[in-house]
Amino acid sequence: MAELTYHAHATFSLSDGNHDLLFDPFITGNPMATISADDLNPDYVLLTHGHSDHIADAVPIATRCDAPIIASFELANYCEAQGAATHDLGIGGSNTFPFGRVKLTQATHSSSVTADDGTIVYLGNPAGIIVDFDGKRYYNTGDTGLFGDMALIGRMEKPDIVIMPIGDNYTMGIDDAVEAVRMIGAGTVIPVHYNTFPVIEQDPAEFAEKVGDLARCVVLKPGQSVTL
Ligand code: NI
Ligand code: MN
Repeated sequence: MAELTYHAHATFSLSDGNHDLLFDPFITGNPMATISADDLNPDYVLLTHGHSDHIADAVPIATRCDAPIIASFELANYCEAQGAATHDLGIGGSNTFPFGRVKLTQATHSSSVTADDGTIVYLGNPAGIIVDFDGKRYYNTGDTGLFGDMALIGRMEKPDIVIMPIGDNYTMGIDDAVEAVRMIGAGTVIPVHYNTFPVIEQDPAEFAEKVGDLARCVVLKPGQSVTL
């Protein structure tokens, strides 16, 4: 049985007692975090894109834990230059790791970091991440707006569990996310990327109500786990 633990914002862990995957670690500076970055001991770190609210703790955790970072080509190279071991993938490409297969999908967003002098450094395209773990397929859409090929991803990949943003402003809001649930067709949906900052305040109960019979909606509080 796999356990998914929500660490607030878009950060979560998947663990089966053998492997521990960490997605988009943003603990330091995250007002909703219930732990410190040093409490996490993953054996892989998976990143959807380069924004600071997704990679803040990635390199420190990856180097401390000897955990390779799995990310798109440019983002992986960016992390490697800071000392992390990495495995780079292109969008649409997959690779099988000791814990299972990982495939990157498109996401409609951006991917960049801001240098100390204010210069914006672009890190290739943002991605969604499909992961096979402990017999189930997860689709972490990453930060994204709604796009029609979510239906194609749902048809081809048939994910069991989808993790998607509902916060609006930077990503899909509730109504677009409900349509994404309809298109992807997964049995379980977990909303993320809301209520971290005032600008992305949303009511997950409203999302769950609008999802209705389309899927089982699992709303997690920061620090809470669910067995999947
Ligand atoms: Ni972002
Ligand atoms: Mn974000």
